[in-house]
Amino acid sequence: MSETPHNKQLYIETVGCQMNMLDSELVVAALRKQQFELTNDIKAADTILFNTCSVREHAEHKIYSQLGRIKFQKRSRPNLVIGVMGCMAQKDQELIFEKAPHVDLVVGTGQLGEIPKLIDEARSSRERQTALSLDRKGGSRESVANSFESYDPLRDPEMRPSPYQAFVRIMIGCDKFCTYCVVPMTRGPEQSRPPSLIASEVRTLAEQGVKEVTLLGQTVNSYRHTEDGREYRMSDLLELIHDTEGIERIKFVTNYPKDMTDDLLQAVRDLPKVCRYLHVPAQSGCDDQLKAMKRGYTVAEYREMMQRINATIPGCAVSSDFIVGFCGESEESFQKSMALIEEFRFKNSFIFKYSERPGTKANGLWPDDIPEDVKKRRNNEMLDLQNRISEEDNAEFIGTTVQVLCEGASKTATKRGDADSDSPSIQLVGRTDCDRIVVFDGNPRLAGSMVEVDVHDITATTLLGSIVTRQITHGMEIDLPVVS
Ligand code: SAH
Ligand code: SF4
Ligand code: F3S
Repeated sequence: MSETPHNKQLYIETVGCQMNMLDSELVVAALRKQQFELTNDIKAADTILFNTCSVREHAEHKIYSQLGRIKFQKRSRPNLVIGVMGCMAQKDQELIFEKAPHVDLVVGTGQLGEIPKLIDEARSSRERQTALSLDRKGGSRESVANSFESYDPLRDPEMRPSPYQAFVRIMIGCDKFCTYCVVPMTRGPEQSRPPSLIASEVRTLAEQGVKEVTLLGQTVNSYRHTEDGREYRMSDLLELIHDTEGIERIKFVTNYPKDMTDDLLQAVRDLPKVCRYLHVPAQSGCDDQLKAMKRGYTVAEYREMMQRINATIPGCAVSSDFIVGFCGESEESFQKSMALIEEFRFKNSFIFKYSERPGTKANGLWPDDIPEDVKKRRNNEMLDLQNRISEEDNAEFIGTTVQVLCEGASKTATKRGDADSDSPSIQLVGRTDCDRIVVFDGNPRLAGSMVEVDVHDITATTLLGSIVTRQITHGMEIDLPVVS
């Protein structure tokens, strides 16, 4: 079939977690191979993709209202193809065509490899295209799992959003079935990728100049894969990729408290490239709530885990997620979550108001009974507490020198347009080994290198400092202070 003429301008909008950011990056890379070009102008695009999230209702509303806004675009642009991909596509399926009849393409998280072909087909046939995996109850575990394919094609270096950092998927799906959560439905059964494939992907990325890899999984520390008769756990995988030449930092998110085993903590302690930073969401500090959420641990067990983390990896930063206003959360339950934050002084916490999700266990069992204004108040109170703690703990860094992997221009510098100027010094941003954001002035060429920064000031979210200058030769090419 001959190709319908169009300008190959692609507009893509991504919401949701890091897994979605990676998916978008890979889909964009695949489409660029077919001569598509990215545009930020939705009106100039002849292919519009939304990579969607269903974890909270708000994320879905955002997409449906965006879809509403472009409803009439097709009248003047008959070649336009509009696609919905990702978690909402897998969850809502045909419903998307009902709610937004101008959509041409619905592609679930387990079928992303189909996108280039389906875009072409939608454009030439003008017929709706779908590629979806089976529902969780749509067959045996094996057949459902097989219908979700991990999408990990090789990436071209120039197509990555950051030349020095990359996400690497090590597993897909989730089998934990927390009662509030849609992810086991939208991402399918938990499946770990073979360690040899992950290791070779990390090697390729390192050859392309990547210095920091972040390993991704919904419950990343539940990783388990048997290859050539040997079982690899998360700790084994870290060891396997640790000595990859060129890689300087390794992170992994998100951890499930119950699977935070000693061998993993020891690996984080013993492998110098692995960041001393663990994201291990607690969700609540109340046993009744944890039970209703079916998280599989009690507060005492979470405490025991925190004690093991602190004893094994001194100085390790821990961050958390909390849900406020989950079904039946009393004021007392909420105060218990506040007490948990006081006790463990997380580096930061992501705080969410409970959002009732059709199809989840909680939705079938209990009413969403905490009024919105109460959720909002609890959310704000918790945020204030966490911010106070983050600020107090960041203050400990004032007067110290931290080692930072420079990521490039800060958001402020980018907004001001400094990043594109020839200025020898702009505001830069990077992170410490314990995942704290550091902002400092320096030459844009420092991007991708390790620098030492003296910390002068802080906020709840950021350390502010200046580059240690004693090792820098002024004038010509800067001699970077590389810290191993
Ligand atoms: N796999 C990760 C997180 C996935 S979703 C984990 O298990 O930790 C990211 C966060 O969204 C969760 O940690 C939880 O705090 C929040 N979340 C999930 N479902 C939610 C819901 N229905 N309402 C509000 N927040 C929710
Ligand atoms: Fe959702 Fe729980 Fe799985 Fe995390 S562990 S993705 S919160 S079901
Ligand atoms: Fe959202 Fe899907 Fe991630 S529901 S949080 S984009 S796994």
